[in-house]
Amino acid sequence: MREVSEREFQLPDAVIGKLLKVAARRKDVISLGPGEPDFDTPKPILREAKKILKNYKKNKVTHYTQGKGILELREEIVKKLKRDNKIRVSPEDISVGCGTQELIFTSFMATLDPSEQVILPDPGYLAYIPAIESLNGTPMHVRLKEENGFEVDPDDIKKQVDKKKSRVIMLNTPSNPTGTVISKKVLEEIADIAVENDLYIFSDEAYEQLVYDEHKHVSIGSLNGMKDYVLTFQTMSKSYAMCGFRLGYCAGPREIVDALTKCKDYTSICAPHFSQLLAKEALKFKDKFAKKMLKEYDRRRKLIVSRLNEMELKTPMPQGAFYTFSNISKYSKNSWKFAEKLLDKGKVAAIPGTEFGKFGGKYLRCSFATDYKLIEEAMDRMEKFLKNKKYR
Ligand SMILES: Cc1ncc(COP(=O)(O)O)c(C=O)c1O
Repeated sequence: MREVSEREFQLPDAVIGKLLKVAARRKDVISLGPGEPDFDTPKPILREAKKILKNYKKNKVTHYTQGKGILELREEIVKKLKRDNKIRVSPEDISVGCGTQELIFTSFMATLDPSEQVILPDPGYLAYIPAIESLNGTPMHVRLKEENGFEVDPDDIKKQVDKKKSRVIMLNTPSNPTGTVISKKVLEEIADIAVENDLYIFSDEAYEQLVYDEHKHVSIGSLNGMKDYVLTFQTMSKSYAMCGFRLGYCAGPREIVDALTKCKDYTSICAPHFSQLLAKEALKFKDKFAKKMLKEYDRRRKLIVSRLNEMELKTPMPQGAFYTFSNISKYSKNSWKFAEKLLDKGKVAAIPGTEFGKFGGKYLRCSFATDYKLIEEAMDRMEKFLKNKKYR
């Protein structure tokens, strides 16, 4: 019989996708769903894109590149990691991919044998678990507690370590969906656990340049003695608003970078040559554009957090990224149903916490990568929706 595989069948249909599709179709809905900047790629970068195409003969942009990516881009990444993250690597310790999503997947391919375990934060980014499970690995959930500001507790990580089966500790700072930035002190404790138990750390730093107030992003790969343990993932998607170009990179121990690049040979072959050349130029602008976007995100963050709390949707101030994560317990026990009704009756799309793990059920994620005025309007709608008891 011709059917899709059992594995494909078991992959979750991301609710995000479904909700966002409905939101996009219905002109009357305001979407607080997006996981990407609402800004276009900055004009100076787009001007570079035109030059790249114009010079297509000389730069060979219409051809494949080597699996790790073009050397000139990896050299630019080496400079960036040293300058911004205090991570010292050579170009051979870097692999460039079609976004960090691909690199995280191929990194699991390169490290996990069946039934081996990955310790990961829950609630956490929704792509980790399907990747691990499709490779017959086992995700080991570490509950992030609201009372700790959703910062991971190293003791909870320790409890999940299995001497025989644990292979990787997955971290994400700043976090999607909670907006929490992990402190240096906590990272140091996690580093000790990795060394004691000989585990890899995968550090997803997609939002590293989007950090507010006094908070500081620290790359765990920069800590003493961590060079051989940490694979750092960063992306052009958020800091440079280049999601559509699909370009991310990872840096870390050579043996694993080589192994995941081999896996990539059988997935994408290489990241788009065009996007690699563009990323090389974009990185030369350093954090100029991220700083500009951050100012606007900050204005929206203050608005949305204060409005959500006024509605008694308890919402901590996000320290990084562009998401709020609200406790909806006062109104509902089921965030999926709550989000569905909010979409249907309130005409606002937001993502139920159930999307982010088994401990996400009490929460709702709103993205403030949406125009300020639309956020204001969405908050008015939500307030009206919450006042109407028959909708809950
Ligand atoms: C935490 C996190 N990691 C990774 C990604 C994937 O980003 P990309 O593949 O565009 O680099 C995302 C996208 O939303 C994300 O939120």
